[in-house]
Amino acid sequence: MDIKQTEVVLAHIDDSYKIATMSREIIEQGLQWSWTPERVGRCILSPEINVITAKIDSDLIGFGIMFYGNTKAHLNLLAVDANWRSHGIGHRMLDWLEMCAKTAGLESCQLELRESNQKARKFYTDHGYSETERVHGYYQQQENAIRMARNLREGHFES
Ligand SMILES: CC(C)(COP(=O)(O)OP(=O)(O)OC[C@H]1O[C@@H](n2cnc3c(N)ncnc32)[C@H](O)[C@@H]1OP(=O)(O)O)[C@@H](O)C(=O)NCCC(=O)NCCS
Repeated sequence: MDIKQTEVVLAHIDDSYKIATMSREIIEQGLQWSWTPERVGRCILSPEINVITAKIDSDLIGFGIMFYGNTKAHLNLLAVDANWRSHGIGHRMLDWLEMCAKTAGLESCQLELRESNQKARKFYTDHGYSETERVHGYYQQQENAIRMARNLREGHFES
């Protein structure tokens, strides 16, 4: 399969189970499964949320979920299959989701991630996000989160 043929497109309701399973295995490991197929399906159908997938042929190798509020966007989930990382798919999906927020005139985008997830902290920093706060026990009282944000109008976030 050729990475150049990766398509980033809106998710279909039939993608719910695969996205939820990838979330459990890649993002929610060690925690209670909260991104169930039903919850992902509700997001796919929601007018305030974009769920996107990265696909090669018909294989789903990545996904992202972003909520759009009145002034702020919130990135709920972003993941790429371990076999397909470091090919630019993560940045491409994040650009796609942020472009919708920018087009809608939103000011900023925020996200939380595990404090221990150094690789993703670097990924988001390189994408223009700044760490704004540590949230104790955010992940089911088992792990702290780092909150990060990006000013969508001017680049880096200023708190
Ligand atoms: C974080 C995550 C989504 C990034 O996805 P990805 O597809 O690997 O991201 P990219 O390939 O766009 O970028 C990763 C790195 O590869 C580099 N890269 C991009 N294209 C490349 C290429 N063609 N060749 C070599 N390196 C490349 C990027 O510069 C980037 O480096 P950086 O992290 O130092 O900025 C992925 O690591 C992941 O799924 N992690 C587990 C889940 C997770 O932690 N999610 C975030 C919290 S919800």
